[in-house]
Formats: sequence, structure tokens, C-alpha cells
Amino acid sequence: MASIEFSGKESAFELHTKVLPAQLRPVPELSYSSKQAGLAAPTILRRTEPAEHRIIEGDNLPVMAALVAEQPTRFDRIYLDPPYNSGNSVRGSWVYDDTGRSSVGSAQPESLATALENVPQDRRDRWLFQLTPRLLLARELLSETGMIFVSIAERELEFLALLMCEIFGADNRVAIMSIRSLHTVRNSSKGFSRNTEHVICYAKQLSALVQHDDRNTYLRVPSDKLYNYPYDDQDGKGPYRLDQLYARNHAKPYVYRFSDGREWQAPDGSFPRYSQRELQRLEAAGQIVWSRGEARVKRYLQNVAEGEPPSTFPAQHLSGFSKDGTAELRELFDGQRVFSQPKPLALMRYLLSIGRPCDNGNREQSILDCYGGSGTTMEAVMAMNAEDQGARTCTVIQKGGADSASPLNICRDVTRERVVRAAQKHGYVSSFSYFTT
Ligand SMILES: C[S@@+](CC[C@H](N)C(=O)[O-])C[C@H]1O[C@@H](n2cnc3c(N)ncnc32)[C@H](O)[C@@H]1O
Repeated sequence: MASIEFSGKESAFELHTKVLPAQLRPVPELSYSSKQAGLAAPTILRRTEPAEHRIIEGDNLPVMAALVAEQPTRFDRIYLDPPYNSGNSVRGSWVYDDTGRSSVGSAQPESLATALENVPQDRRDRWLFQLTPRLLLARELLSETGMIFVSIAERELEFLALLMCEIFGADNRVAIMSIRSLHTVRNSSKGFSRNTEHVICYAKQLSALVQHDDRNTYLRVPSDKLYNYPYDDQDGKGPYRLDQLYARNHAKPYVYRFSDGREWQAPDGSFPRYSQRELQRLEAAGQIVWSRGEARVKRYLQNVAEGEPPSTFPAQHLSGFSKDGTAELRELFDGQRVFSQPKPLALMRYLLSIGRPCDNGNREQSILDCYGGSGTTMEAVMAMNAEDQGARTCTVIQKGGADSASPLNICRDVTRERVVRAAQKHGYVSSFSYFTT
């Protein structure tokens, strides 16, 4: 089997065993609860999230080591959006020391310091050196049916793919997705205008995740978007939306008389969506609602088809452009640019909605994002929980200090602040605990 070579590889593969787990210290004054913030849940987002999210300020290496030590924490999904080693001052910059020496904090054992003596000098090798222990810890942190997603640009794609193949095993590769991130063609490009990014996806153990003889374990994404189901009568039937009773082509035309005497027929040029018999059944089941003089039917999320296979090239409206992520963040920060190139919410929602029918819409997943950045993942999780009454929990790790892109403490002033602003703006009934190391 092909394997990747880089200088320092041997010691990179041992680093994670030498890291002293960080001490996670709660910071109550930076923690957040929508209850304390006095937020009443809007009528259509009624459910209180029972679970609590976590924002952890610190270098992800000792923090991940701490999570490994914190048995039985295991994550269903892990997302990594590391610096891309792109060479530009923003995306390519490591918050931690480029040499890797000071990246893991001062209280580390001598053996780690010795291992770090051999940090490679070559830029790419150093990048692979940094990622290796983090990927190895991520593997340990995955649940048996867990999946990891790593975002990457083309420049390091094959190197990262090989490294992940070595760490997770060729048999556990799920997919390499291509995401159209740039909405336009970059006319200044010397060669190709690179308008895609990639997401490499591995399973902890693909044979445990997807079983060939059980369709209930095949990977699917909802073919109807979850956020099309904004209502909930709290009657145990779950979220629903209101659909028209007609379609462009379906059942034979008829005139239907409801039990209150009102008559209905499909408007000119359209057809009844349901047969008369089905409409009768829907009426008897209390699923017909009159809204502004028009009859509509409650369509429950739990009754929609099991979904469709996720795509390695999702449609643009499903993954969003890079500019969408920028606009979403700017809007929350009153037009200010506080972080460069956050991921679009749509992309995170797409990745997190990939799952098996038997996992009930992934509604109880535990998610870890090791390079939190502007907190897109946690906002996406809160939004998804609000929409489908989920109890997903999200842990985000983000280094505290400033970097070349910003003089702010990214974790406090961007990650945390974004999540709080989003929760307040959208009325998410949610909470998180904040930790430092
Ligand atoms: C590419 S950005 C992630 C962007 C994020 N996905 C978003 O949507 O906003 C990478 C982030 O990882 C952080 N970072 C880099 N090295 C880190 C480390 N060793 N531990 C924790 N965070 C780190 C950087 O500060 C930066 O915010």
C-alpha cells in the first residue's frame, strides 16, 4: 500500500502519546445560557435543548488529549478545518508556532520536548507533522460508527489524503467531496482559477457504519431540507410544514367537499396532489389546515422519504459559497469583518446531516470541531437542533490568542461572540459552557 513520507514522520506518529492532557477549567462568566439571557423561545422553536455545548479555548492537541482521557467521550462526527498551508498570511498562518515547539503549551513532558526537537524544516513536512498527532487523536475520539470530515484546498489534497489513508486505513475511506467554494472565476489566476475545495471523509470503521445487507445503515442526506419544517404542535408527531393540496401533475381532477361544507378543487392548470381517498384520510387525521382561505396539508418530517445518498459534489445551494460564510458572519457582527473565510453554514449543515436512516436524522449526535474559527459549526448545530427538535451536542476547540488575521482573542471575541449573537438573533434555546486550559 502507498504510504506518505515526510521528514519527522516517525516522531510525528508518536507525538500524541507524549502530550500531557490539558486541564479544562470552566469559566462560568464566559458560559452562556439562553435562559439567563432572558430569551423566550419563539413559538415555532419551542423545545429546550437538554444538552449543553462546550467551547474550549486552547491548543487543540493537549485539549484533544484531555478529551481522550475524559472517558467515555466519543464523538459521532469530527470536523477539522485546519490552516490550509496556503502560504498567504491569513489562511496559511498557524496560530501556534510554525515550528510546532510552543504549540502545545509549556507544561509538557521532557519526552515531548525531545520529539519536537526534530520538527521538519520543509513547509509541507511541517504541516503534515502538525496534523499527524491531531488526526491520530481524532481517530481515538471517534465512536465506532463515527465519521471524520477534513476540509482542504487542492494544494495539499493528495498529501492529506495519503496521510489520512495511513491513519484511518484505506478500507475506511468514505469519500472525497468537492465543494464549489468560489462563486466566480478569478481572472488574475496564472493558470486555473481554483474554485473548489475538498472535504475528505473517513469512517472510524466503515464496515460498522454501513452494512451491505441493511439499507437502514446506508448513508443518506434528507432530500427535503430540514428547515422546511418550521411548525410543531408538540403532540409527539414532530415538525411539519404546510403544503398545498395541488401539484403540477398527479391525481385525476375532482371536487372535494370538506366536512364543514367548504369545497375544494385544484386551481386551473394544476392537479390534486392526493387522491380523494387520501384527502379524506388526511382530513380525518386532522392534517388539513385552512390558511388565508386556502386548504393546506400538514406534512410531517418523520414521514418524508428516507433521503438520498450524499453527493461528492453537492449542489451549490446545499454547500454554499465561501462568500456566503463571509456574509453570514458579517451580518452577525454589524457589517464588520472579524474573521477571514469562515465556512458557509450550509456546508456544515450538509456535512452534519449525512447519516444513516437508523440514526433517526442524526438528532442526537455528538460533534467535535477541533479548529473552531468563527464558530460556524456550533451555530449550524444550534440551528439544526431548533428545527428538528434535536439534542445534538457540539464541542468546539479554538486557540485563544490573536493571529496574523486579527488582534482579537479569536476564541472569546469571535467564536464565542458569534455563537451568542446567533443564539440571540434566532432565538435558539441553547447553552454552552466555556473552558480555558
Ligand atoms: C481555517 S480556520 C477554521 C474556520 C472555521 N471552520 C469557520 O468556519 O470559521 C482555522 C482555525 O483554527 C485555529 N487554529 C489553528 N491552529 C490551532 C490549534 N493548534 N488549536 C486550536 N485552534 C487552532 C485558527 O485560529 C483558526 O481560527
